[in-house]
Amino acid sequence: MLVKIKRGWELPESAATPEDVFHDRRRFLKAGSAASILLAAPALLAACDEAPSQVAEAAESPAPAEPDPSAKLYPVKRNLRYRLDRDITPEDLVTTYNNYYEFGSSKTIWKKAQALPIRPWTVKIDGLVEKPLEIGVDDLLARMPLEERLYRLRCVEAWSIAVPWSGFALKALVDFAQPLSSAKYLRMETFLMPDVARGQKASWYPWPYIEGLTMAEARNELAFIATGIYGKPMPKQNGSPLRLAVPWKYGFKSIKGIVRFEFMDRRPLTFWEEVGPKEYGFWANVNPEVPHPRWSQASERVVGKDYRVATQLFNGYGQFVADLYRGLETERLFM
Ligand code: MTE
Repeated sequence: MLVKIKRGWELPESAATPEDVFHDRRRFLKAGSAASILLAAPALLAACDEAPSQVAEAAESPAPAEPDPSAKLYPVKRNLRYRLDRDITPEDLVTTYNNYYEFGSSKTIWKKAQALPIRPWTVKIDGLVEKPLEIGVDDLLARMPLEERLYRLRCVEAWSIAVPWSGFALKALVDFAQPLSSAKYLRMETFLMPDVARGQKASWYPWPYIEGLTMAEARNELAFIATGIYGKPMPKQNGSPLRLAVPWKYGFKSIKGIVRFEFMDRRPLTFWEEVGPKEYGFWANVNPEVPHPRWSQASERVVGKDYRVATQLFNGYGQFVADLYRGLETERLFM
């Protein structure tokens, strides 16, 4: 049986999906017999908005943008502690070449993402905390110490960008949440709005998107909640109003459109780990010497350039994070 699915970031340009990987997908197995999978595939692809063609997507007009009430907060002061080893990627590329499966699996979802309502936006902070709470995103922003940081992002698909992110240290949110000492992990959850984000109608994916960090990772100085880029509020396609930036990990850890932070005593099952446990794990630290099961991670395509560069261990951020993993060598730290 040949079922061919083009799934955006999971595939470097040249790779196809082997049958065994496809069959690993729990949701798909749930769908039943091989025959039903074959019959279901075209409809599911349509629901996931599989790349019609870039021309067709370009022809759609985006919903008119409503003003972002946080616009007055930007630009914020750059923290010079975090430096780049390369040029900042042009803004027009970072905002038009995206992964946001909620809006489809092509890279050109930016217009579709404009449909996401970002106000009111309530964030739930709960689980193992002193006092669970819900807070509007603008109230949260008013309490957080905003700054700008230059970080690179390395996608598991072997492309990379370098971005001026605005936002606040995740540690500031952790301190605000007052987790109990029994909290060992932070679970983060994306919105669930299938009528707006039509990719969420693709039932073989375990929506909503979930990501997680250990408490030590969440408190690490690099872990950042990004609320803007290029001195402006975060565009919807890049994860407005709140998205994670953990530059030493593959980009799929950088969850977008966060509505909930839950403190837990057990490791959360993350979205891509649930979809493909043989290929994606909880830790997902960048390592050029540990290939993805279907492609090398030794180098990366720099978006906007016509060359590749060598990928670095922990994406070059080892001085900040390598200590987090001492004693954890038996874990699958690099997938
Ligand atoms: N967050 C959600 N909710 N949904 C997604 O599909 N894709 C991830 C990550 N965060 C994704 C997500 C992946 S695979 C990558 S590489 C980055 O977002 C891409 O971020 P960017 O589009 O801003 O470059």
